[in-house]
Amino acid sequence: MAGKIKAIRGMRDILPPETGRWQAVENAAREAFALYGYRELRLPLIERTELFARSIGADTDIVSKEMYTFPDRHGDSLTLRPEATASVLRAVLENRLDQGAGVKKLYTLGPMFRYERPQKGRYRQFHQINCEALGSDAPELDAEVILLLMEILKRVQLGTSRLLVNSLGCPECQKKFKEGLSLFLSQKQGLCEDCLRRRVTNPLRVLDCKSVHCKEILKDAPVLKDYLCPDCAVHYARVLSLLSRFGVTYEEQPRLVRGLDYYSRTAFEVVAVGLGAQDAVAGGGRYNGLAQELGGPELPAIGFAIGEDRLLEVLPPELGQEKNRKIFLAALGPAARDQAFSLLQTLRREGVPGEMDFGERSLKAQMSLADRLGAAYTVILGDRELETGKATLRRMATGDQQEVSLSLLPMVLAGL
Ligand code: HAM
Repeated sequence: MAGKIKAIRGMRDILPPETGRWQAVENAAREAFALYGYRELRLPLIERTELFARSIGADTDIVSKEMYTFPDRHGDSLTLRPEATASVLRAVLENRLDQGAGVKKLYTLGPMFRYERPQKGRYRQFHQINCEALGSDAPELDAEVILLLMEILKRVQLGTSRLLVNSLGCPECQKKFKEGLSLFLSQKQGLCEDCLRRRVTNPLRVLDCKSVHCKEILKDAPVLKDYLCPDCAVHYARVLSLLSRFGVTYEEQPRLVRGLDYYSRTAFEVVAVGLGAQDAVAGGGRYNGLAQELGGPELPAIGFAIGEDRLLEVLPPELGQEKNRKIFLAALGPAARDQAFSLLQTLRREGVPGEMDFGERSLKAQMSLADRLGAAYTVILGDRELETGKATLRRMATGDQQEVSLSLLPMVLAGL
């Protein structure tokens, strides 16, 4: 016998009833996006490799070791998207969505792919709720985007979490900071191999190193905040003061750099309690220079992505569970089955979810099927019921039964 084919490591099936929780999160996000004036984009899952290499940065873990990259049949190098921001910007520039006045507010949901070592909260195919606001450098927009993120997390009842904020400054601040950091690192012994290389190519990336020893060294490293130019410092202070004004609790995290190179000025992450090592449920920031990096006009922008897989791990299990109104119609004999089939369609027209079995099973078998399908009530219809014009209505949780006149049945069931 041939062996069974299984899902690829790090990729998983999300099955019912768990999918109901996913829908609840996505619906909550869509409602919040609409409230803040965002519209949806649906983008390809595959892009030219160059798009990610140029935007995320060659020295990042994502580009240097985590991308699913392959040649297509023409030999073009393609990549399964590891994140959505680069694709959103590509689509915005390609479709000229940046034209016209006002901030362009866009969101997109869907799977991302990174070849990371799978573990709790870390998958090779994972899902993001991605938000991007393009066309303004105003600190009000930074605050608004963070408020929107917090609104979504509140709507899905995320428990204890921390919002970490930092400013990465503009390219000028970053240049000076990198020099300062480079100098500091050159005086230190024992950096890991990656960091020894990055110390020269892109010292900011050293701050993101996961090695315990490097982390120890970095405890005394200079911080970006001390290198901000006056404009960036004012921008950052305004963002923080707006967050305070709207009651958002944040923690300044002077060493937060994020894992992608395109950020400037505001950067933030939300970490949730109870997730272990992979505790970031969302991350984002400004990427003012990215549009130009991709050959477009100046287009200051900011956004975030929520990691749905991780978020769902910490949300209450009852999330998305609406009142169960499902009816199962247990019919015995052809005449009753025929009647039940009509009733089923009437119920659905009334918005009542219902199911029946089309086979010729015993009442006992049909009742256990009703249980398995999670019906709240079962209607029993047989020859006797058709004769008397009354059906038996059984409440599955308690076993209580009552007789209901067939003519009133749709109305009674719709009101349950
Ligand atoms: P990121 O921090 O790389 O940012 O990813 C955002 C979130 O995606 C993370 O906080 C985490 O919850 C989730 N995530 C990332 N990798 C995995 C994984 N392997 N398994 C499960 N969840 C994961 C970005 O992707 C940026 N594009 C966010 C952004 C949008 N910045 C501006 N606009």
